Amino acid sequence: MIQSMIAILDLGSPENPRIAREIRSLGVYSEIHPHDISPEALKALPGVCGVILSGGENRIVDGKAIDVNPDIFRLGLPVLAVDHASPDHPMDLPHWDEDNADVLNAFLDSCGAKRNWNMENFIEDQVELLRQQIGSRKVLLALSGGVDSSVVAALLLKAVGSQLTCVHVNHGLLRKGEPEQVVNVFRREMGANLIYVDAIDRFLDKLAGVPDPEAKRKIIGAEFIRVFEEEARKLSGIELLAQGTIYPDIIESGTKTAKSVKAHHNVGGLPEDLQFELVEPLKMLFKDEVRACGKALGLPDDMVYRQPFPGPGLGVRCLGAITRDRLEIVRESDAILREEFRKNGLEGKVWQYFTAVPDFKSTGVRNHARCFEYPVILRAVNTVDAMTATVEQVPWPVLLHVTDRILKEVKGCNRVLYDLSPKPVATIEWE
Ligand code: XMP
Repeated sequence: MIQSMIAILDLGSPENPRIAREIRSLGVYSEIHPHDISPEALKALPGVCGVILSGGENRIVDGKAIDVNPDIFRLGLPVLAVDHASPDHPMDLPHWDEDNADVLNAFLDSCGAKRNWNMENFIEDQVELLRQQIGSRKVLLALSGGVDSSVVAALLLKAVGSQLTCVHVNHGLLRKGEPEQVVNVFRREMGANLIYVDAIDRFLDKLAGVPDPEAKRKIIGAEFIRVFEEEARKLSGIELLAQGTIYPDIIESGTKTAKSVKAHHNVGGLPEDLQFELVEPLKMLFKDEVRACGKALGLPDDMVYRQPFPGPGLGVRCLGAITRDRLEIVRESDAILREEFRKNGLEGKVWQYFTAVPDFKSTGVRNHARCFEYPVILRAVNTVDAMTATVEQVPWPVLLHVTDRILKEVKGCNRVLYDLSPKPVATIEWE
């Protein structure tokens, strides 16, 4: 089934992703395309039934205002123009704001757009498209257990079942219970071919004695690729590699007008010379849509609504050179914090929360004797885009209870601290 689609032509508005989200939330699929798309290519986009010209502060490129090919006005497609234009180059068009849902609704009606964009239809279409792309070939997926790779796995299982092989690399830096959950959900409950690789010693040996955060990140990334490549080479006849690329990864890589926020790397930074054809079924979905897709595919809530977790995992929360004893302190204290946040209704309310353990000890007293042990730092922040963040005002009794549990239950910790620093000046993570 071809969905109706509204093409947003990017004339420099930073609001384009939000407009696309808004249209999708009204039940119509929407994609962002470059302003200089040719009229032929625009007309050929599947399901295209209307065009939005979306101008804004980034419309001036190399000193000149960019514009669309005027022939697009002759395609017979309804066109809506909106603008956040700079004062020097006013476009004299309606400004985009949240109250414009009425304008959008009227525009969608005038386009005759079918309001059938929903997760069930998306999944049905993707299953069909995946079967067409994959045929009888085999697909490989690096399954970290994060939201994106988990949803890709669930979608591919529905589409091609046993043609999919998932590789889960346990680098020893995952949170408590995560490797077990991946194995349980995918191998036991969903019947996936899942290769579980215990690479804990290998990673921790490589990281031993390395205190520099960037060096740690590089080692974790490079070792991940090596382990994955080794596993991939053991399997024969695999031509396709699935990736959890999502729409913000593509948008953030920079369009012709938007500044590049970050270069888009494949999940896990897998090298191009692995020479696989890519399968990227989520590349047109925003994060909340990815979660909705996972939910519709039956993944458990604590997998679908997981808070963000950095690729290097607990490796950047066990500060300085990673040691096994401090890694266990981070893992156990993080599990207590998560459990207490869940019990106290903070789980869905706070954007990110975790613990970190520095590489120094302090004096305490335990069982009437002096002890010299590590502190645990609690962090809980809210943010929209992770570029800035504010500290959550966690209720005092919750903090005291978490502290009490950590001091009683986590071996080797005699002090608990709460980090009150916003970003900037601090970053969310400690490393
Ligand atoms: P910072 O510490 O820069 O973090 O304020 C912003 C967000 O990014 C996450 N983060 C990472 N994610 N690899 C990742 O995939 C990393 O190396 C990394 N470092 C930080 C962090 O958890 C926060 O959500």
